[in-house]
Parts: sequence; C-alpha cells; structure tokens
Amino acid sequence: MRTHRTPAKARAPVPEQQSLATRAIHGKKLYPFRGPVAPPIMQTTTYRFADSRDAIRYAQGDPDVYVYTRYHNPTVAEAEERLALMAGAEKALLFSSGMAAITSAILSVVKQGDEILSTPALYGGTYRFFRDILPRHGVTVRYVRPEALDSIVSLATKRTRLVYCETPTNPTLGIVDIAELVSQVRAAGKKVHRKIVVLSDNTFATVLNQNPFGFGVDIVTESATKYLGGHTDVMAGVITGSADFISGARTQLKYYGGCADPFAAYLLLRSLKTFDLRVRCQNRNAMALACFLEGHPAVKCVLYPGLPSHPGHSIARRQMTGAGGDGYGGMVTIEVAGGARGAVAVCDALRVAVNAMSLGGVETLVSIPVYSSHVNMSAGELARHGVRPGMIRISVGIEGIRDLQADFEQALAVLR
Ligand SMILES: Cc1ncc(COP(=O)(O)O)c(C=O)c1O
Repeated sequence: MRTHRTPAKARAPVPEQQSLATRAIHGKKLYPFRGPVAPPIMQTTTYRFADSRDAIRYAQGDPDVYVYTRYHNPTVAEAEERLALMAGAEKALLFSSGMAAITSAILSVVKQGDEILSTPALYGGTYRFFRDILPRHGVTVRYVRPEALDSIVSLATKRTRLVYCETPTNPTLGIVDIAELVSQVRAAGKKVHRKIVVLSDNTFATVLNQNPFGFGVDIVTESATKYLGGHTDVMAGVITGSADFISGARTQLKYYGGCADPFAAYLLLRSLKTFDLRVRCQNRNAMALACFLEGHPAVKCVLYPGLPSHPGHSIARRQMTGAGGDGYGGMVTIEVAGGARGAVAVCDALRVAVNAMSLGGVETLVSIPVYSSHVNMSAGELARHGVRPGMIRISVGIEGIRDLQADFEQALAVLR
C-alpha cells in the first residue's frame, strides 16, 4: 500500500530497533506521511491494468504488478510486513488459518520419501495431519521425546529433512528446550551431510514471550486465529522465515490456495495494535489463576510453565523471557477429580469463562481436550500426548482476575 511520503527532517528511527509494541502498531511507517492511519481494506479479487503492458510485465515476472488476490493483495502484504517485523524475520506469509500455514510450510520442505522427526505432544490437528495425511504423500514421521533430544543425532538419516516442534504444547503445556533441539539438529545435519530444517509452532507462546529465531530455528508458524487475532473473530495463520523459504512457500500457497482474505488481514492489523498489551495482561492473569487453582482442593493438578512445580519451569524461565520475566503465556491446563464427568460439570458451571474451543482471545475460554483438540485419538495416543479425561484447558482472557477466580471457585464447588 503506497502512502504519500513527505521528506523527514530528523533522522528516521530504525523500525527493527523499536520495541515489539511499537513495531506491532506502526510497522515500518516511522516517517511523516500523508494518508490513512488505519490501513484501507483492498477487498478485491483482481486488479485493473492501466493497459496490457502491465499484463506483459506480470508475464515477464515483475513482482510489483498486482494481478489476483490469491497471489498478492496490498492489505495482506501490509499484515505480512508487520508480522515479519515483529518476529525479526526477513519475510512473512499470511494464510487463511494456522493449519493452512503449517501444512504449506511442511509441504514446502518435504517430498515423497522424506522423513520428519517431531516432538510427540502436538496440537491434535497437526498430529492427525502427520498420522493420516502425510503418509499419503510418502512422508513418514517419527517422534523424539523432549527429555531425550540427543536421540535426534542417532535417529537422523539421509531421509530426514525436517524437525518439527511445538512449545508450550497444546494442551499439556509441555516445554521443549529449543536451543538444545536446534543444537542436536545441527549435529545430526553434519552426520547425514544435509541441511535439516527446524520448524517451530509458536502459537501458545506468541512472539512476545518467545522468539524461536533467537535460538536458531529456521521457520516459525503461528495460528493468528489465536493471540495475534486476539478477539475470536478472525481465522488466519502465518509463516515467518528467510526470504528464500517464504518465496518457496508462496508457490505452495498459490497452488493449495490457502490465501488470507483481505478483510481478515485488516482485522489482524487492527488486533496487532493491542497485541503487546493484551498478551501481557493474559500472562499476568494466567499466572494469578494458576497459583489460585494450584491451591484448590478440587484440582488434582495444574499445568502452567510459570509455576515452579512445572517440570519444564527452568527451561521456560530461560526461553520465555520476551515479556521480561512473566512471559509464560495465557494457557493453563488443570485436571479435576471425577474424570471427564468432573470436567464437564465444571465447564457447565462456569459463568464468566466461556465453554468454547479455540484460544488466545480477550475472553476466557475453557475446553475439554478429549472432546476437542484431542478428539479422535486412541487411549495410547492420548497417553503419549499426556492428555487425561479430567483435563480442562483454560485460555485465560483479560477480564478482571478477581472475577475469574470467583468464577472458578463457584464452578469447582460442584465437585464437592
Ligand atoms: C498450537 C496450535 N497450532 C495450530 C493450530 C491451528 O490453527 P487454526 O485453527 O488457525 O488452523 C492450533 C489450533 O488450535 C493450535 O492450537
């Protein structure tokens, strides 16, 4: 989107050096310009050419000619530029959902006969894609336990092309040591004499709390439906990485067709202005709610990386530092007495927290993983993911913390 630039008299600030909040609000527009402050929505599928010389320029490969929104759209491009700047990546690519971003990123890397190594606890949709869809493309997935990341070196073969990880994991908030994972992958790459790509799903942490690029990860995906969107009203997904990788992924996007809609890109740009503020509040509320629930007699266990009782706490303390010490994210999972029936009773008794799937919005949402993110899995698969029937996943919102604590207090009373 071109704006009328007026010459800057003072030395211009460097966008990359600004705080995350400033980058999320202004993007690269740190100069005086005449034009709209809110980005216009270019809600069009196609673009009129001045004359056929534009079509010829496009046919000759000129990337600046807009022809069709599945290929290129100014509102989408503005959101992509903003997201790349926030992550400190060369480029970003926006998709119609987190799954579209994940599947396109993976299919940009692997081909028939290749193998992926992955940490085992994953969002159910990703896991089912690995289990049910990738084998049809001739791609296999083997799992590496986060406590035994050194096995990556012995497991890697000439077929290993990609190492995939998610941290914190959905829904059990398991922590993978990203720096250690990357170091093992680089050692494995030396052993098999090929570059093995590392991809990390950063949806639960968000770029505010944890930036995987700082640990050497090659590609980062995020479901923008969650914290980036933040208002439970937009589906989107993003891949960030090198210009080279994003250019290959853009080709996947063109043919698989998972492009973001311009209106979704506009909603996302709007949401990014309050991203830093919202996620900091969610971090604080989640920590306070986790502490409150940990002391509650009806709660068997609380999984939150910010609690010293969490097995991954020391890694999380090192790795999730973006928000300056309280950046453990807005997701808390609890296990209540009485198994799935207990979890159902509590979810049905909540009044402020909303019984709904998804996460990352300003309103607190609860869901029962065996009936939502981890449906359609065998008992063995649930055990490998650490998912138990009595678990309730809480996406903590930005309501008043006392209201949330009181709501859980009255809902948990149904178990007495
Ligand atoms: C960790 C994680 N990654 C990816 C996704 C997929 O995102 P979307 O629903 O936007 O496709 C989800 C959805 O819940 C998720 O929790």
